[in-house]
Amino acid sequence: MADTWEALEKECLACRECSLCETRKNVVFGVGSREAEVLFIGEGPGANEDEQGEPFVGRAGKLLDDMLAIIGLERKDVYIANIVKCRPPENRDPLGVEQDACIGYLRRQVALLRPKIIVCLGRIAAMRIIREDFKISREHGQWFEKAGVQMMAVFHPAALLRDPRRRPEAFDDFKALQAKINELCEHTRAE
Ligand code: URA
Repeated sequence: MADTWEALEKECLACRECSLCETRKNVVFGVGSREAEVLFIGEGPGANEDEQGEPFVGRAGKLLDDMLAIIGLERKDVYIANIVKCRPPENRDPLGVEQDACIGYLRRQVALLRPKIIVCLGRIAAMRIIREDFKISREHGQWFEKAGVQMMAVFHPAALLRDPRRRPEAFDDFKALQAKINELCEHTRAE
């Protein structure tokens, strides 16, 4: 039977495939338009996201909103999801086994959405989605193509909060994203 967003979300919200289910408050499935042409992928929920069940709602999320606004976009124009849907304790990186248990949900989200562009937010997402040995400091802002989808990684907004000196480079990456959106997308305009 064909997959649906409703079936996928229901399954994901009840997931017990890894031990993160023991400590989560909420599963953070994803947010935005289910017809978006641009998909942003973060690493995993933090404390605020776990509380609210929505990705990127803390300080890093506010910065992501600001970066989107610079290129004329809002959350409702894109889709935002994470590699793992439940919060890793103490905000540690998600373990390989946790990513493996969870990645099927993201794959099904990608299959339903069929985005034209995928933007990896940070190193963890880039290593999982673009290439295992991805180097964020060297390769951020570069375009990669996989199965007809254009992909790029940008610095994680939390990394930009820690090191504001990287903001000019992040700004350039978002400008490159803006140009790519206007080149490839049929109904998303970034202005
Ligand atoms: N960091 C992430 O990678 N994802 C979120 O949803 C929030 C913070």
